[in-house]
Amino acid sequence: MDTTSKLYQDIENELLIPREKIAERVRTLGEQITQDYQDRNLVVVSILNGSVLFFADLIREIDLPLTIDFMQASSYGDSTRSSGFVHIKKDLDRSVEGKDILLVEDIVDSGRTLSYLKTMLKKRGASSIRIATLLDKPEGRQVDMEADYVGFIIPNAFVVGYGLDYSERYRNIPDIGILRPRVYQE
Ligand code: IMP
Repeated sequence: MDTTSKLYQDIENELLIPREKIAERVRTLGEQITQDYQDRNLVVVSILNGSVLFFADLIREIDLPLTIDFMQASSYGDSTRSSGFVHIKKDLDRSVEGKDILLVEDIVDSGRTLSYLKTMLKKRGASSIRIATLLDKPEGRQVDMEADYVGFIIPNAFVVGYGLDYSERYRNIPDIGILRPRVYQE
């Protein structure tokens, strides 16, 4: 998809992270994870929906036997601000007991979603729980939460593309861009 497409009209002209940089970073994260999870019982969990593109690319850069599972939680309504409360919309299909869980998220903002999920999976008996996030917005943090693998640290702007949405739109943009404020101020 080229950047003159209609989909790009709602994001700032200068892309925050172009697709080539994303691919390069995902490759490096995959290499690190491969090193760290030798001889472990790895289950990679995609936090739906935002992480699906990152997840699909990341697992193909992890050179180890692994299984996958999916979970959906939300702390966001349709706005650009955290509602401050986490709701499980879809739970994992399999038990996490004795497994090394790698939660894959699109972005950590307030940190509430991942903090909640981590506590929940720990109680269910996972051997270890780590977090891989493509983006990290440290300025938005409301709870103490650090991801173990971070793709990019970004400023406190609302971003879309490469899986990230605004009102379920823009997920299919291959790059990451800042949403023009007029879109959510309308
Ligand atoms: P947290 O619980 O506040 O850390 O929320 C993380 C979730 O908020 C992410 O999984 C996204 O769904 C959403 N989110 C936070 N910031 C952005 C953004 O800039 N663009 C799109 N979604 C975002």
